[in-house]
Amino acid sequence: MSKILVTGGTGYIGSHTTVELQKEGFEVVIVDNLSNSNIDVLNGIEKITGIRPAFENIDCVDYVSMDRMFEKYQDIDAIIHFAANKAVGESVEKPLMYYRNNLVSLINILQLMPIHKVKSMVFSSSCTVYGQPDILPVTEQAPIKLAQSPYGNTKQIGEEIIHDTLAANADLQSIILRYFNPIGAHASAEIGELPNGVPNNLLPFVTQTAIGMRKQLSVFGNDYNTPDGSCVRDYIHVVDLAKAHVIAVKRLLEKNTNAQIETFNLGTGRGLSVLEIIETFIKVTGVDVPYKIVGRRSGDVEKVWADPSYANNVLGWTAAETVEETLRSAWAWEQNLAKRAEII
Ligand code: UD1
Repeated sequence: MSKILVTGGTGYIGSHTTVELQKEGFEVVIVDNLSNSNIDVLNGIEKITGIRPAFENIDCVDYVSMDRMFEKYQDIDAIIHFAANKAVGESVEKPLMYYRNNLVSLINILQLMPIHKVKSMVFSSSCTVYGQPDILPVTEQAPIKLAQSPYGNTKQIGEEIIHDTLAANADLQSIILRYFNPIGAHASAEIGELPNGVPNNLLPFVTQTAIGMRKQLSVFGNDYNTPDGSCVRDYIHVVDLAKAHVIAVKRLLEKNTNAQIETFNLGTGRGLSVLEIIETFIKVTGVDVPYKIVGRRSGDVEKVWADPSYANNVLGWTAAETVEETLRSAWAWEQNLAKRAEII
C-alpha cells in the first residue's frame, strides 16, 4: 500500500482528497498545524471511509519537526502539498506571513524529499497565476501575469521554486495543479468548507446567509464587462478536484509520465457569474439568499474560466458534477454544521 503525506490534510481540499485517497487504498499521513482547520475533521474522514488517517500537528515551516516526521513514517511514497494560507485580502495586510508560510514550507519539503528518498510531489497552485487572461477559456500556455496579491505571488514563486529545484535534481518529479474555484462538500455532508470567522469566499458566505448566520450577502460589483455585470468564475466540485489529486499521485507513482514536471488546469470549462450562482442556489435549495450589490472588491479579476482539455485528455479526468448538485452539497453541509452546533 502506498503511503501519501498530505500536508494541510484537515483543510477543505486536503480533507476531501484524503477521503478519495483512502477509498483508492492509499495510506494517508496528514500533517497540519490546525491554523485554519479543526481536528474534528478527522472524525468526518473516519465516518466516511472507516479509516482514521495518521495525524501530526506540525507546522511545515518547522524544518526539524518535518524531518522527524519523515523519520517516523518511513517510506512515504509521495507528497500532496496543500498546506498554505489562502486569503487574498489577509495576504495584502500580512505579506511576510504569506511569504514565510507558503514558501518556507515548500522549500522545507523540497529539501527533505531527497533526504528521505521521496521522489514525487503534487503541488496546489491556483488560476490566480493567470491574473486576468487575455484569452478565455484559459489554457496552461497562457502567460503568467503580474501577481495581484502576495498570496497570488506565493503561488507563482512556488511554481518557480519547483521548476528550479527539479532542474537541479533529476530524481524528483512533480505535478502542479492549478485550481479554479472549488466549492461544495462531500455527499455525506460529514466534511466540507469550514472557514474561520467571516468567510472571504463566495460559497460559504452564500450558505451562511441562507442559514441566517449572516444578514445579507454583498455582491462585489455589477458593472463588469460580463453578461449580467457580476464577475465570472469556474466553480468546480471539491470532490472532483480531490479525485484529480488521486489520479496525479497514481500517475507519478506508476510512472505513467516521463515528464519531470507537468502543469494542469483543474476546472469545469464553464464560467458562471456571481448572480447565476446565487440564483441557482436559491432554485435548487428553495431557500432565499438576501443580497445587495456593493462596489467592486479590489484585486478581483473580471472573468476567468478554464480550458480543462489538457487534464481531460492527459489525466483522463473531467469535472463530472453539475453545479446544481454541487450547490446542494454545500447547503447540506451547512445544514449539518448547524445541526451539530445545536447539539453542542
Ligand atoms: C480567490 C483568489 C484565488 C484563490 C482563492 C482562494 C483571486 C483573483 N482569486 O478566488 O486565487 O485561490 O480566492 O480562496 O485572487 N464574491 C462576492 N461576495 C462575497 C464573496 C465573493 O460577490 O462575499 C465574489 C467575488 O467578487 C468573486 C466571486 O464571488 O467574483 C468568487 O470569489 P471568491 O470565492 O473569493 O474566489 P476568487 O476571488 O475567485
